[in-house]
Order: sequence, then structure tokens, then C-alpha cells
Amino acid sequence: MITSDIRVDGDRLWRSLGELGDVGAYSDDDTGLRGVRRLALTDADLAGRELVTGWMRAAGLTVTIDRIGNIYARRDGRDNTLAPVMVGSHIDTVATAGRFDGCLGVLGGLEVVHTLNDHGIATERPIEVAVFTEEEGVRFGTDMLGSAVAAGRIDLADARQRTDPDGVSAGAELDRHGLVGEVAVPIRAPFAYLECHIEQGPILAAGDTRIGVVQGVQAITWLELQITGRAAHAGATPHHLRRNAGLAAALITVRLNEMVESGAYGAMLATVGRQVNYPNLINIVPEKSLITVDLRNPDGAAMARAHADLAAYLAEVEQLAGVTITSRTTAETPPVVFAEQMRDLVEKHAANLGMSSAPITSGAGHDAGEIAALCPAGMVFVPGLYDGISHNPREYSTPQACADGIDVLLHAVLELAVA
Ligand code: GLV
Ligand code: MN
Ligand code: MN
Ligand code: MN
Repeated sequence: MITSDIRVDGDRLWRSLGELGDVGAYSDDDTGLRGVRRLALTDADLAGRELVTGWMRAAGLTVTIDRIGNIYARRDGRDNTLAPVMVGSHIDTVATAGRFDGCLGVLGGLEVVHTLNDHGIATERPIEVAVFTEEEGVRFGTDMLGSAVAAGRIDLADARQRTDPDGVSAGAELDRHGLVGEVAVPIRAPFAYLECHIEQGPILAAGDTRIGVVQGVQAITWLELQITGRAAHAGATPHHLRRNAGLAAALITVRLNEMVESGAYGAMLATVGRQVNYPNLINIVPEKSLITVDLRNPDGAAMARAHADLAAYLAEVEQLAGVTITSRTTAETPPVVFAEQMRDLVEKHAANLGMSSAPITSGAGHDAGEIAALCPAGMVFVPGLYDGISHNPREYSTPQACADGIDVLLHAVLELAVA
């Protein structure tokens, strides 16, 4: 068998994406579509983990879990003293997800193993398929939580005590599900790490490029702002006597948009994704407002400038609206540039397979950005449809695009693990 001729089974991959997508499925009122809601360490996430680890064991893999619940499913190599080639991603989702974000990287990794098994191909190095806990960060407030603990950026004790909006800690949920495993963190460095993912943006969808060769991941800063003013009667309180927390939240939102549009912060993106007023009633000036700020920027220096300028503006808003504002940074990752040899590897195997490719910087955060601290890491992007929309039940990629990405993954893994 000439290994360059082998291809993954796209139908099997597609079926597994469908089956996993049924776990935590919900009916989305907004789009009328079936979406996926499988927040990290909920019962739905546990059901997803059980389905996937069942498939892993059936494929002959040895499944272990680390102290933050990350899963590692190992296919032995000829020399198991060698560091493994790791592939993977996450299966937790946001509350309004499709079925590709993260799942393609995990189920694609499993499809690589199935394909090697089908062809009786042994590798020198072991191969591990990883599933990282709470990549999305929407439950415990910081993204890439599991891979950040695996890579040593976030301390295990700190990660365990992070709480969800109901005050339930990640540690309590890990204990409840029996997900405190035997693998110590930070984990031992893999030989290399590769992750296939849908792009989640419009760039590949706009052209006919089949593979995105991911150059790196842009910086991410998440803030939680608590704005405190004073509740007052909407009909009887003149504006000059108000301390309106809702107005302050609106001013900050508009300023962030102006900062983006000014171009003074490079290619910055800014999103106020969550806003909760208190008491949240029509005829009361809001006493409190909680808002979250998500800043992205491929340029770390421009990110730092934006962060500082926003802090200065918050002080202005305190004066303008008569409120007090406390700001908490809940996530902060610098831009990541992937190792050149991994970018070259992805580009080379796309070309070998006759697929067009283009360099691309990831807009979204990914586990690969964390594991890059341990070993050379890289990513393969495939296009989504409908402007590449994601974090939305409309998220969609075609069976062909998914199989393309996993074929590239297969051949890159074969080279790294040495068939
Ligand atoms: C997670 O998907 C993120 O990039 O926010
Ligand atoms: Mn993802
Ligand atoms: Mn996501
Ligand atoms: Mn992500």
C-alpha cells in the first residue's frame, strides 16, 4: 500500500458529526433550525464525551483523562517511548451552536485513526486524539480553559475555582462527573499538535480555496465590567440627577465601535456580547449594568493600546454618567504564530492532495494556540457556508470540505508520526 494514495472515509466522518450533533440538540426559535447546546461539563457535555470515548475505545484507543477533564485517546506506535503526535480540539459548544465548531477536529482525529486501522498502517510514534475541556469559555468565563491548564498557562487550582453564572465551580462539576483523571497537568509535551477546524469566518467561503493554512491566532482579551449607578423613577427623575448604569453601558459600547472604526487599533474587533441591567424594568433608571467586552486583534501592541485607552474612557464615563465601574479581565491571550514547519507541512500536504490553499489568520481562539506553548502546533481550516457563520445553528460546512480538511490532517500526521 502506498500511503500517499489513502483517503479518509468522508461518509463515516459526516455520520459521526451528525450523531454527536444530536447530543444536546435544541430547537432554535430564532432560526427555526436545530442547534446544539452542549456547554462544558453539563450533563449534555458528559453525554457527548461518553459517545466519543465509546467510539475511541471501539477503535482500539486507550483513553486517559487529565486533572481538568481533558481526554487523550492513544493509538500505540512502534516505539511508545516517543512523544506522541497529538490531534484534537473540543466538543463543548456555545449555547447556540452548530455541529462543526470543535467537533470536526475531534471526530476528524478519530477518522484519521479509523483510516490507519482500515489500512493496517502502523506508525513509529503514538498518535493521540485530544478533547479539551471548556474551549468555548462561555460557562466558566475563560476560553481554552482545558488546553491552557494542559499547557501550564492556567493553574489547575485557579481553573477549578472558576464559577459559572449560577456560582457552580468547574471543580465541583469535574468531581460530580468523575472527570478528575490520572494524567498530571501540565501534560508532557507532545511531539507536535495539529487541529482541523472550520474557519468560522467569511474569507474561505468567499472564494474557492479548499484549505486554509493557519498562520496563527489573534490576541484575545475578555473583560467583565460592573457598572453601578442608582435606581430611580423614570418619570420623576430629571436627567441631571440620574446615575444611569444603562447609559454608561451604552456609551462604552458605542466607544468600542468608534475605536474599531477609527482604524487606530489595527484590525481590532470589539463585541459587547452580554449586557444585563438591574432591575431591568421599563420605568426604572438602571442601577446596575453588567457588560462583557470581547476584544480581538492580530497585533498585540495595538491590543494593549486599546485596553489602556478603554480604561481611560471608563474613568470618563464614571464622571459623565455618575457611576462607578469595576473592570475584571477574565481572559487574555497574546497573538500566537504557529511554527513554520507546521505551516509548511499543512501547505505541502494540501498541494500533494491537489487542493488549493491559502494562508489565513484565525479570528477565533483555539486549543492549538495553547498547545503551541508545548510543541510545534498548526491548524487546517476548511470553509463554512453562508459567509462562514458560526456560533449560530446556521453554521455549516459540506461533507467534501470536511473530508478535505481531514485528508490533509491524515497525511500531515502520517509524516509526523512516520508510517
Ligand atoms: C471561541 O470559540 C472563541 O474564539 O471565542
Ligand atoms: Mn472551536
Ligand atoms: Mn467556538
Ligand atoms: Mn474557539
